[in-house]
Amino acid sequence: MNFSLFGRKLAGESGILTLMDDLARPLPEGVPHRPLGGGNPARIPAVEQAYRREMERLMADGDAFEQTIGRYDTPQGRLSFLEAIAAFLRSEFGWDVGPENVAITNGSQSAFFYLLNLFSGDDESGCKNILFPLVPEYIGYADQGIARDTFVTLPARVELIGDHEFKYHIDRDLVASYLNDHPEVGAICVSRPTNPTGNVLTDDEIDALSRLAGKHDIPLIIDNAYGLPFPNIIFPEMMTGSAKPHWNEDIVLTMSLSKIGLPSFRTGIVIAKPEIITAIGALNSIVALASGSMGQALGESMLRSGELKTLADTAVQPFYRDRLNRAKEVMIEAFGDRPWRIHRSEGALFLWLYLEKLSVPATELYSRLKERGVIVVPGEYFFFGRDDGTDEEVAWKNHPHREKCLRINYSGDPELVHEGLRILAEVSAELEP
Ligand SMILES: Cc1ncc(COP(=O)(O)O)c(C=O)c1O
Repeated sequence: MNFSLFGRKLAGESGILTLMDDLARPLPEGVPHRPLGGGNPARIPAVEQAYRREMERLMADGDAFEQTIGRYDTPQGRLSFLEAIAAFLRSEFGWDVGPENVAITNGSQSAFFYLLNLFSGDDESGCKNILFPLVPEYIGYADQGIARDTFVTLPARVELIGDHEFKYHIDRDLVASYLNDHPEVGAICVSRPTNPTGNVLTDDEIDALSRLAGKHDIPLIIDNAYGLPFPNIIFPEMMTGSAKPHWNEDIVLTMSLSKIGLPSFRTGIVIAKPEIITAIGALNSIVALASGSMGQALGESMLRSGELKTLADTAVQPFYRDRLNRAKEVMIEAFGDRPWRIHRSEGALFLWLYLEKLSVPATELYSRLKERGVIVVPGEYFFFGRDDGTDEEVAWKNHPHREKCLRINYSGDPELVHEGLRILAEVSAELEP
C-alpha cells in the first residue's frame, strides 16, 4: 500500500499505539495479567455513583436522553457545557473567560493533535516548531506532528534526592537561549503534572515559561489532564513550591474528564483566547463534525453544583495518594538496598523508575516483563524530538535516563500492582551486573 507521507508518518509504529494496544489486548492464555502500563484511571466508587445518578436523572427527564444521543453539538462543544465551564473557572479562579474561551474535543488527546499542528509546520516564514522544554515528556505527543521533525525537546536537569528519589527541573537558561536563537518556535508545550514522571512544574517555572511565551509572542500550552481543579491528582505535601492553576491570554490550558472517571466518553476541554478556540472548532468540524455529547451532558450539572471539584478533592486525590503510598512501600521492600530511584511523586498516576545499573535497554526489560504478564511502558518512548545532528537538538537521545527508566501505572488493583512490582524487582535484578 502506497501511503502518503502523512500516512507513513502517522499510521506507522508508535509508542502510543503500542501502549494503547497493550492496554486492551489480552495476553496469551495462561499468562496472568498485571497491567501497570497505559493511563487507565482507577475506578473510584464515589465517582462512579455520581455518574450513574446523573445518567439515571437524564433517563428519567422527559426526552433529555434522546436529545443527548440524537443530535450533534456545535463543533466547539455543547453550548450549555461551554457556559458551565466558563462560569466555573470565573468563580473558582477569577479568570476573565466566557464560552468564547472554551472548546470541547474528543478527549484532550485530539486537542493536542489540533494544537500541535496549528503551531507547527510550514507557514510563509518557514517551518515552525513546537518546543517541549522538559523531556521526558508525554508519549502521546511524540508522533502527533504532521510535518516531519518539528518537535524540539530540551533535556531536564536532574536533582538527586536522598538514596531513592530524584526530580527533574526545567533548565530555564537553556530554554531562554533556545528561544532567542530560534524564532521558528511556534509554541511551547508542557504537561503539568507531567506524564510520565509525576513532576509538577512550580508556579515559578510556569511564570517563567509564560513570560518567555509572551516575550516571543507564542502560546504556552499547559496540559492539565491530571491537575487542578479536577481530577486534582496532585500531592502538595510532596512539593517544595506551590502549583496553582494558571491561565492568561498567552496560555492554552487543556483539561479532561478522563482521569475523573470518564475516559470512554472522550471529553477534552481547551481554554484559550477566542482566536484559538475558533480554530479548534473549525478543525473539529473537519475532523469529527462535533465532539461526543455524553461526557458533557453527565458532567454539566456536577460542574455547576461544584460536585465535580468536591469529588476530586475528597475522593479522587485521597484515593490516588493511598494507592501511591502503598505502591512505594512495596517498592522499598522489593528493591531494598539496590540502586533504584523514583521521580518525586508530586502528581499524576505513575511511578517513574530509574535503574542506573540496568544492563539492557528499558525496551528489553519491558519485553521480559511482558513474558511474565507484567505490562509497563519503557522509558525510551518519552524521550523524543528532532534529530538533526546538532548537539542541542539530539540531547534527548544522549540523556542518561533514556534507556534506564520505566513508567509504572500504580493505580490499578493493589494486589496485581504489588505482584507486578515484585516481579519487576526480581526480573530487573537479573539484568544488573
Ligand atoms: C498528559 C496527558 N495528556 C493528555 C492525555 C489524553 O487524555 P484524554 O484524551 O483521555 O483526555 C493523557 C492521557 O493519558 C495524558 O496522560
